[in-house]
Amino acid sequence: MAEPVLEVRHLNSYYRVDRSPFRSREARRQVLHDVSFTIERGEIVGLVGESGCGKTTLSRTILGMLPGYDGEIVHHSSRPQMVFQDPFSSLNPARTVGWILEEPLRAAGGMTAPERKAAVLAMLEQIGLGEEFASRKPWELSGGQRQRVSIAAAVITHPRLIIADEPVSALDVTIQAQILQLLVDLKKQYDLSYLFISHDLNVVYQICSRVLVMKDGRIVEENTVDELFDHPRHPYTRQLLAAAE
Ligand SMILES: Nc1ncnc2c1ncn2[C@@H]1O[C@H](COP(=O)(O)OP(=O)(O)OP(=O)(O)O)[C@@H](O)[C@H]1O
Ligand SMILES: [Mg+2]
Repeated sequence: MAEPVLEVRHLNSYYRVDRSPFRSREARRQVLHDVSFTIERGEIVGLVGESGCGKTTLSRTILGMLPGYDGEIVHHSSRPQMVFQDPFSSLNPARTVGWILEEPLRAAGGMTAPERKAAVLAMLEQIGLGEEFASRKPWELSGGQRQRVSIAAAVITHPRLIIADEPVSALDVTIQAQILQLLVDLKKQYDLSYLFISHDLNVVYQICSRVLVMKDGRIVEENTVDELFDHPRHPYTRQLLAAAE
């Protein structure tokens, strides 16, 4: 049964640009053009396209971080959580891993301190880091371990949808595979859906069920992952596939 967690309808996004210091009239540049798609419960939807096409702009707009947009964004559940390419920018360097994982629970409320501590330790086990990692700081972790922590921080409040923006691009291939496996395991356990942003079609092939192809801020193809690889419809998709070989 289809059950959408997110619907995006005719979305246009804009950035303000100051064309001239002498002119006060506001200029804006449109980055996303008439973007529409739905993410159903349990899906991993890939978003691919070359650098600068608007992938991060789309995730920022969905999360309400960009004021300049029109169109419709319908969340059918709690606010999505984000996982970024560089966990260094998202993890507070002054705090311990235990604090970082507990903070979203504190912010959400409804749990006692001992309950939160227990949830943090259980989550640490689940992401394959032992309890001893609770007292470490982000810089005392490897890149892969750091990404595990940032994924855990996104998942710990049990959102329905995770937006992962190039979550494995900074990692080498073996670590990439481990992190992808972790994302799949967590999806099963917590009934998650993902919008999985990547410029790497090979990674998308490994994890996604459906793919959106973006070019210059427009979705030019939406297809199942098998059809996309076997029978790409749009010339731009064929171009991306050829480049990935
Ligand atoms: N804060 C901003 N102000 C103005 N323009 C921006 C801003 N952020 C991004 N842009 C522009 O919007 C366009 C889309 O950028 P975006 O970051 O969404 O691309 P992307 O697909 O995520 O690229 P990448 O794969 O390199 O991460 C680019 O032309 C970029 O220069
Ligand atoms: Mg980006």
